[in-house]
Amino acid sequence: MNLSGMTLHQLKFILAVARHGSLVKAAKALSLSTPTLSLQLKKLSETAGAPLFEMLGKKLYLTSTGALMLRCAQDIEARIEELSQEIAALKGLKEGELKVAILTTLKYTVPRLVGSFCVNYPGITISLWIGNREALLDRLRKNEDDLYVMGQPPDELNVVAEQFAPNPLVLVAHPSNPIAKKRLVKPADLANELFIVREAGSGTRLTTESFFKKYRVRLQTRLEVVSNEAVKHIVAGGLGVAVLSSSTVASEVALGELSVVKLEGFPLMRQWNLVYPSGRRLSPAATRFKAWLKAYRPEAAALPTRKKTSP
Ligand code: PGA
Repeated sequence: MNLSGMTLHQLKFILAVARHGSLVKAAKALSLSTPTLSLQLKKLSETAGAPLFEMLGKKLYLTSTGALMLRCAQDIEARIEELSQEIAALKGLKEGELKVAILTTLKYTVPRLVGSFCVNYPGITISLWIGNREALLDRLRKNEDDLYVMGQPPDELNVVAEQFAPNPLVLVAHPSNPIAKKRLVKPADLANELFIVREAGSGTRLTTESFFKKYRVRLQTRLEVVSNEAVKHIVAGGLGVAVLSSSTVASEVALGELSVVKLEGFPLMRQWNLVYPSGRRLSPAATRFKAWLKAYRPEAAALPTRKKTSP
């Protein structure tokens, strides 16, 4: 076996197939026809002397040789990215690319900071991905971004995590709901309340469920919604209660459309973390952006309060 003839181009093919999980999708992303891509992969597996993928049912899986080659392709891709950042660093922070992935719940705060960062560093091109915890962890596993912003860092992955801002979670209800008027609500008092919850895979939902599990309260969850906005509008419309990051409900609470329930054990004090794979050398743009976020002093993380209206 002689791998010296292997090209960067061929490694891009294996990266694309692993990323998209299908030959057809990978070929589309690479602007190739599926037969051309499959021929290229065949050539690559001949060079390696073993198949790189196998079909099980309708799914495509990497063989152990394929997994080794993918790892090599990812290392080379990361090194090339580092090289371009190092060259950019030579030119100061005048040029560069930055890929940041954040949780849905952070879209109330981080995009503003991205905006001000862009104004200050006009040569840096930023791509901002927004999604839920499960999808973000998937990207982190595949090493797709420079920085990840999330709540609880994953125990199962080897990462560096730096806290940068508090993230209190609050229980909100419609102001006319009797529990909104109680001086103190115990978790067990909520057994008959309808909870409007985020989708499975959301960090907010995981935290809510583990809190109530600790108190042995079985939540009534008939309505599951893939958006913080929709959850809060449903509750503001008079249906159910919800646990949400305080930053997402600040304006509704200030306007008196939602009330923060005085629940024992709440607010759940969580932290936002800046996360990246340990061992990864951050690019100058990522290092600068990390410092930018850490300098942020969030008023939005303060617990929301209702604004007094003059009589
Ligand atoms: P989510 O995560 O946006 O996936 O709900 C928020 C969190 O982890 O606190």
